[in-house]
Amino acid sequence: MQPLTKIKGFADLFEPESLVFRHLEETARAVFGRHGYQELRTPILERTELFQRSIGEETDVVQKEMYTFADRKDRSLTLRPEATAGVMRAFIESGLHTREPVSRLFTIGPMFRYERPQKGRMRQFHQINVECLGLDAPWVDAEIIAMLWSFLQALQLPGLALEINSLGCPQCRPAYMEALQAFLAGTNDADLCEDCARRRHKNPLRLLDCKAAGCRAIMQEAPKIADCGCPACQEHFAQVLALLRGVGIEPVVNHRLVRGLDYYTRTTFEVVSGDIGAQSAVAGGGRYDGLIKQLGGPDLPGIGFACGMERLALLAQAPVKARPAFCMVLPDAGLLPQAFPLVRHLRDLGLPGDLGEPGKSFKSQMRAANRIQARFALILGPDEWATRVVQCKNLDDGTQTPLSLDDIPALARHLTA
Ligand code: HAM
Repeated sequence: MQPLTKIKGFADLFEPESLVFRHLEETARAVFGRHGYQELRTPILERTELFQRSIGEETDVVQKEMYTFADRKDRSLTLRPEATAGVMRAFIESGLHTREPVSRLFTIGPMFRYERPQKGRMRQFHQINVECLGLDAPWVDAEIIAMLWSFLQALQLPGLALEINSLGCPQCRPAYMEALQAFLAGTNDADLCEDCARRRHKNPLRLLDCKAAGCRAIMQEAPKIADCGCPACQEHFAQVLALLRGVGIEPVVNHRLVRGLDYYTRTTFEVVSGDIGAQSAVAGGGRYDGLIKQLGGPDLPGIGFACGMERLALLAQAPVKARPAFCMVLPDAGLLPQAFPLVRHLRDLGLPGDLGEPGKSFKSQMRAANRIQARFALILGPDEWATRVVQCKNLDDGTQTPLSLDDIPALARHLTA
């Protein structure tokens, strides 16, 4: 029978990759925890409508990338393509805002988008997602971006750049959209790529970040959203930039950074890498002040970001894994019942170790101890057992010390010294 294989765009993560992922998660929990963020775990499956109403009907994610299916009662469900919508749903449903004026939440886990798989782009990928709900001041934007930067610095990732833009607010965005439509009126559909020809009427902002050469050339001359922003938006943006520069973070202002999801207002940002190929954004986010209300919740502002773990993993080093402290070597397999509780006792004291390959020859058991890079071989033969000792052979320098089996804490100290 043919063995079954995994689905295209889905991956199994063995070590050392899974170690890198764990390192990313542990670093995120440590850095975000210091900033007062709490971990929230939301379901992977949500009602399809949640994503349609938040991410936007006209976005690529909703139009062509969602894993949507009917359940057994014919309800339309979707595997989450991002975390923000589910976090908003959970926030509203739990009434968290009635207990806390500000909620700082992070979520880590798999997301699903039906995109063409390539380096740094998977159909099941993982995000580390952060949201701060209830505050709209510029320092909040600066603080969350600075936190993202601290996280990336803690991971010691090379060659990253922070790009930033302001998308305006419901007061000034309409005037910009008009200016953009007026500019686009002089362009033929035939001069635009297929996606942009379709998007120009319903979602013209997306034309700004199209990668197609023809669209890029046309949009070079397009009006800049920063020039149309109302005074409040311009002041907000200026303060965010000043606060970031004050802590030594120099973002590059990118007028074409509009992001692919519809809910953004004011500050948007991305962190890009020059070292991981075409899928260069390792993190992206922004402010979404109308989203919670739009989903039926209170009129509260919010801002957040998500990092793509697969992309961070392309840049991060696997942490050095601790060597096993010991590996048992039994010249006589009949002593397994005596070795078994010893190994358990040492592990329970916190020592990583291995039972080795009992039943094999002494030579191959020693080879196994060396192969797993144990620091000590613990040799327990009939003579040792009779005198209540175990031989601790240091596999780095070859020295051998007999230690009493009646004082396991002393043995453990020797193995960790
Ligand atoms: P996004 O830009 O769609 O934003 O995704 C954030 C990050 O997820 C990207 O920068 C990228 O690193 C990673 N990513 C996205 N799609 C894939 C994929 N197919 N394979 C691998 N990595 C991928 C959001 O999802 C927003 N919800 C972020 C946010 C949170 N905004 C406010 N709060």
